[in-house]
Parts: sequence; C-alpha cells; structure tokens
Amino acid sequence: MDQKYDFDGWSSRWDEDRIGFHVAKPNPFLLQYWHHLHEIKPKRCLVPLCGKSLDLVWLSEKVETVIGVELVEKAVLDFFREQQIIPEIQKNSPFNAYSHQGLKILQGNFFDLNLEVEDSFQAVFDRASLVAIPEELRPDYVQGLTDLMGAGSRLLLICVDYDPSKMSGPPYSVSQNEVENLFSKKGTLEVLETRNNLEDRMRERGLEWLNESVYLFEKN
Ligand SMILES: C[S@@+](CC[C@H](N)C(=O)[O-])C[C@H]1O[C@@H](n2cnc3c(N)ncnc32)[C@H](O)[C@@H]1O
Repeated sequence: MDQKYDFDGWSSRWDEDRIGFHVAKPNPFLLQYWHHLHEIKPKRCLVPLCGKSLDLVWLSEKVETVIGVELVEKAVLDFFREQQIIPEIQKNSPFNAYSHQGLKILQGNFFDLNLEVEDSFQAVFDRASLVAIPEELRPDYVQGLTDLMGAGSRLLLICVDYDPSKMSGPPYSVSQNEVENLFSKKGTLEVLETRNNLEDRMRERGLEWLNESVYLFEKN
C-alpha cells in the first residue's frame, strides 16, 4: 500500500471526534435518486468507506444484503452502539466482520477487498468515499470498486468539487472531468445533478464555492 496513505489520520479523526462529514440522517441524494438503484432490484449493495453512516440502516431496509467497509474500528463500534445493535463479530484477516441480519460491516482497508473476499454487488452507494482518497490512489480505488460490480450493476456517486488551491482535503476536490476519466471506459456515466452546497464548515476552511455532484454509473 502506498506510504502516503494516511491510515493514522483517519484513526485520529475518529478518536478525536473530528467527523464533521457524519450526518445524523440518511443522505438526501440517496433518498432522491434511490429509484435508479431500485430499478435493477439489487440484492447486494456495497457502501465503501462507510463510517457510521445512517445510509447503511436505510439501505438495509431496502436491500437484502448491505455490506459496508470501514477502516477504523471505533467507527464500526460506534455505529452498532448508536443503533443499539449487538453484532456478531468474526475476527479475521484482512477484515473483521461485524454483522447483524442482512447488514455487515467489514472493518479493514477497502483496497484489500476483492472477489475472493466477497461476491459481486449489483448496487453501490459512494458518498464522501472517492473524495476521501488521495488523487494518486483514485484509479486503484475505482478499479477495485468496479471489479466488485457485476455487469449492469449501478453506482450512485456523490463528489465535491472546489478550488483546490484554497483547501487541502479530505474531502478532496474531484472534478466532473476526473470522474469521467476514472469511469467512462468501464460503463456509462451520467450527471444527475450538480448543486452549489457550501456548508459553513467548508467556508471556515477557506472555500468560496463548492459544488456537489451526483453521478449514476452503470457498469458494462
Ligand atoms: C469522509 S468519511 C465518509 C463516511 C461515510 N461515507 C459518510 O458518508 O458518512 C470516509 C471514511 O472512510 C474511512 N476510510 C478511509 N480510508 C479507508 C480505507 N482505505 N478503507 C476503508 N475505510 C476507509 C474513514 O475512516 C472514514 O470513516
């Protein structure tokens, strides 16, 4: 794994409760655009870099099997504690698995996930995940993600784009151009919406504008 990958940075963020990305409700774009995933009647949904997102809960009410992947154990433990669920735990390498009914969180490094560990997925929800990955690793992330997607499977992807000279990520700025370069050879990509969405916490970090875009990708 690339030496520049800041594993410790993510652990510290969780330890010190610097998790401004976490929102105490399901993502509004997921609710708005869920029908694009629902249409293909997915049985297995992947939520990469899931944190303790409530999207996991929402999705597990709609899809038989939901699998989240999260590096930091504290995030996983917080998720189950806050949901008042005692998960079954299987400690293993490269992932510890925490499961309850159709929901499982694999605790470990997303870059270790492949089809030997998990079967393929028909649906993927990526919010604040691609934009958490440094630029030089994004091609590997997208390759790993799309390798896990079966033909005709769909991904809802939410990315932010801002003037990168004003702030260093994460979240990193990932432009529409970059998203097209990363995905377009692997399937069809559509921009569903772009919204100016500069929250105070980003304004305080020096940004004057921030666009949030929602993409629908369908794998060939
Ligand atoms: C910006 S947060 C987004 C979390 C979630 N998607 C949400 O919407 O709240 C990124 C999460 O990915 C986790 N993470 C970072 N690198 C990872 C990796 N290589 N494998 C798995 N999880 C990772 C971090 O600990 C953090 O919880």
